[in-house]
Amino acid sequence: MKALILSGGKGTRLRPLTYTTAKQLIPVANKPIIHFVLEQVAGAGIRDVGVVISPETGAAVRDALGDGTRWGVQITYILQDHPGGLAHAVKTAQGYLKDSPFLMFLGDNLIQGGVTQYVAEFRKSDARALILLKEVPDPRAFGVAVLDGEGNVVHLVEKPKDPPSNLALVGVYFFQPDIHEAIARIKPSWRGELEITDAIQELIKTGGLVMARVLKGWWLDTGKKDDILEANRVVLDSLVGLKIAGEVDVASQVVGRVEIAEGARIIKSTVRGPVVIGKNAVIENSFIGPFTAVGDGAHLCDVAVEHSVILEGCEIRDVERLEDSLIGRNVKVLRAPESRRRLQLFMGDDSVIII
Ligand code: TTP
Repeated sequence: MKALILSGGKGTRLRPLTYTTAKQLIPVANKPIIHFVLEQVAGAGIRDVGVVISPETGAAVRDALGDGTRWGVQITYILQDHPGGLAHAVKTAQGYLKDSPFLMFLGDNLIQGGVTQYVAEFRKSDARALILLKEVPDPRAFGVAVLDGEGNVVHLVEKPKDPPSNLALVGVYFFQPDIHEAIARIKPSWRGELEITDAIQELIKTGGLVMARVLKGWWLDTGKKDDILEANRVVLDSLVGLKIAGEVDVASQVVGRVEIAEGARIIKSTVRGPVVIGKNAVIENSFIGPFTAVGDGAHLCDVAVEHSVILEGCEIRDVERLEDSLIGRNVKVLRAPESRRRLQLFMGDDSVIII
């Protein structure tokens, strides 16, 4: 079995970060999301991995993954010239996938516990496809499935106004090679994309068995800012314990599950886990509260921060309370002197500040 990881797309909902980076490379707990995906694919014993990339962010994705040796897999990159939809990505990869069954994994999705169990179930079955579902309170933003009494899929709808069930499609799918014929028969949807839900629906229409499994553990789809913060919270929550490679001075306090990477320095500060602090970061006279990730080389001085993701190279000074924030690389948040207290902004397109 091969794997196809989708790492193209537009990422419009994560602007401005996605002007300069692929959303699959945004770190949660200081690790790019797509690294978790590769770990899960490799963990399920799949060695042949195709990664779909876009012209805009493809080079950065290649740099971050290399040839896959790090995970014991062999990566082939497949350039999708425009984000024509998930089924369009499969179509683009057809020359790579050939007649192999495959696991398709969206490069910005994470599921608890990995995919080993589902790889085995799909191998044993004679189903045309296996999809993963998760019960969600409001499924209107997702693909939604209707199941029969045996738990097989009878119907799928993309982002329904009036959802027929609360079972959302998780970004993990298994296909037999006849999905390519189904994709060849579908037309672009109203949003101009070749939808994978339409291709699966086509399999069902032609009498193919589409199995479903409902996830019990968490599923994280990191499409928007609050999703990244939630993913960061959940992943940090699974940190095992205290791991301190950097320096903590005697005037500082480190409490709970905290990872401090080498070269980082904690000076006159309190760090209350779960927290990760990147290499060579400096935390001075600050409070780093639960569910915060501070990237490599960031410098925080006189700051109290909680439930936030701060990427590498940021400089933040003299901020009383920072919460629920996602801050891109090399951003500076500083305070003007008391005598000329006013907001002075230099921000990229689509930035959001709440004051
Ligand atoms: P989406 O999050 O549905 O789409 P997007 O990345 O274009 O983001 P936005 O809606 O904010 O503009 O994509 C899910 C995953 O699939 C994501 O990892 C990107 C990837 N993808 C492709 O590789 N090719 C595509 O044509 C599309 C639409 C998505």
